Amino acid sequence: MSKLKGRDFLTVNDFSRDELYEILHFALQLKAERKEGKSHPLLAGKTLGMIFRKASTRTRVSFEVGMYQLGGCALFLSDQDLQIKRGEPVKDTARVLSRYLDGIMIRTYEHREVEELAEYAEIPVINGLTDLLHPCQAMADLMTILEHKGKLKGLKLAFVGDGNNMAHSLLLACSKMEMHVAIASPAGYEPRTEIVKAAQANAKDSGTEVLITADIKEAVKDADILYTDVWASMGQEAERIARIRVFKPYQINREVMQLAAKDAIVMHCLPAHRGEEITDEIMEGPQSVIFDQAENRLHAQKAILAKVM
Ligand code: CP
Ligand code: NVA
Repeated sequence: MSKLKGRDFLTVNDFSRDELYEILHFALQLKAERKEGKSHPLLAGKTLGMIFRKASTRTRVSFEVGMYQLGGCALFLSDQDLQIKRGEPVKDTARVLSRYLDGIMIRTYEHREVEELAEYAEIPVINGLTDLLHPCQAMADLMTILEHKGKLKGLKLAFVGDGNNMAHSLLLACSKMEMHVAIASPAGYEPRTEIVKAAQANAKDSGTEVLITADIKEAVKDADILYTDVWASMGQEAERIARIRVFKPYQINREVMQLAAKDAIVMHCLPAHRGEEITDEIMEGPQSVIFDQAENRLHAQKAILAKVM
């Protein structure tokens, strides 16, 4: 049995490079099988519960469709309807759901809540985004880079914008996978120190570099991958106008593209605000792989589900 069976998927940093490659290669296999019309009912009879405390298009639909394609089923559980909203403790919810389900996916605010759920659940828990991390998106991103670049090792990814959950997951994922990673964020919006430290430790092991800077030019110089995300994440809606002012120089546009490698690809986890963190021209341009990335959420998550459940 794979060493992945029964494991939680809360952060990519809980996994070795070999384990992450195992998931990525399996995701590529599942994608190819699907394109050939082959079915793969690896989770027949199994049920995934999906707890959402925040909005979602990609995560909800790709997990639900993914379970269906694996022969199982998925339950959408909005926190608006769960007893959690009325104060039932997470540790009780975890144990109750463990008696019915085979796995839980959760999207929430505090990362600690996901850790607590995982601590008390007897079934695998998958992080579908917290304020701290978005590991399933990072897996789809690595898969997309592999498809477009044929490798991960030695490539440079530059993330431009807020030092948010996406920046954190990319810092951990890229450094683990022997990639160089640079983050360009305005002062006061840098990624969290504990994540940067963990990424630096990975990079030391990988023999690669982690750069945190306010200088967008330095970050994107010769980058193979340019990545950006919204300036105001879910839960930060009240700060949106103030953030637009601060982040204005941190946009992926034609001028910034000139500084990256000629064959650089452009990525965004979506949803995007065109005209803010990225121009419409670049999003729709030939170097954008943004919709492949969105598609790969499905395949990458199916691989995670089939391996851990
Ligand atoms: N990228 C992503 O997680 O999208 P959703 O918020 O639509 O799930
Ligand atoms: N940083 C964004 C990612 C959305 C997928 C957010 O948390 O809203």
